[in-house]
Amino acid sequence: MNRIGIAVVVLSVFLLVGLAGVGFCAEKKKVKKEPAKEAKAQKVEVKAEPTVAKSKALVVFYSRTGNTKKVAEEIAAVLKCDIEEIIDTKDRSGVSGYLASGKDAMKKKLTVIKEIKNDPAQYDLILLGTPVWAGKMSTPVRTYIVQNKEKIKNAAFFCTMGGSGDAKTFVDMEEATGKKPAATMTVLAGEIKKGEYKAKVDEFVKALAGIKP
Ligand SMILES: Cc1cc2nc3c(=O)[nH]c(=O)nc-3n(C[C@H](O)[C@H](O)[C@H](O)COP(=O)(O)O)c2cc1C
Repeated sequence: MNRIGIAVVVLSVFLLVGLAGVGFCAEKKKVKKEPAKEAKAQKVEVKAEPTVAKSKALVVFYSRTGNTKKVAEEIAAVLKCDIEEIIDTKDRSGVSGYLASGKDAMKKKLTVIKEIKNDPAQYDLILLGTPVWAGKMSTPVRTYIVQNKEKIKNAAFFCTMGGSGDAKTFVDMEEATGKKPAATMTVLAGEIKKGEYKAKVDEFVKALAGIKP
């Protein structure tokens, strides 16, 4: 082999060693990337936990003419929690509906309500809202409690009314649920009309601070 031949062989060897080196580095880089991906995935999982915990309070209400609905929606907005409206299948509109509702409430009658969307057993706290009917809870709320009593872990009560009967209504609800309420709140129909109930809702939610998950 002459000098040029030797030089070609030496250069070829260097070239091969160089290429192998690049390949090795690339492999090394690939291996390094894997743990970084894992770390990212773990972070997302950790973030998911508080969101689950937040959904543990449920506002449940019935409203014949919209007052209790307004208050219930405000509570759910402040707590950022789920909300369930109890829908009665009985027509309670007009004067005849008013009179029939008064009678049903006084006799502690039950009604047929539509299927509920949220399982109360999945929540730590159920906030139950009703209009006051003849010094008692409304018939659809009584029906909900009878059907779900065993699934209610903790309860808080709120009601709306014209002017009197809230205390008796809360006793009625306590007896029906078998639960001492974590907090209670009464909002007058007049306050709702004027839009003056948000401060009361804030206080109610604050009173639940120890219970709210
Ligand atoms: C059948 C019936 C009975 C009522 N009885 C009372 C009562 O005993 N005391 C009271 O202050 N308001 C009473 N009200 C008024 C409601 O409690 C009040 O208007 C309430 O805010 C209505 O809520 P809603 O719009 O969510 O149905 C009665 C209303 C109805 C329909």
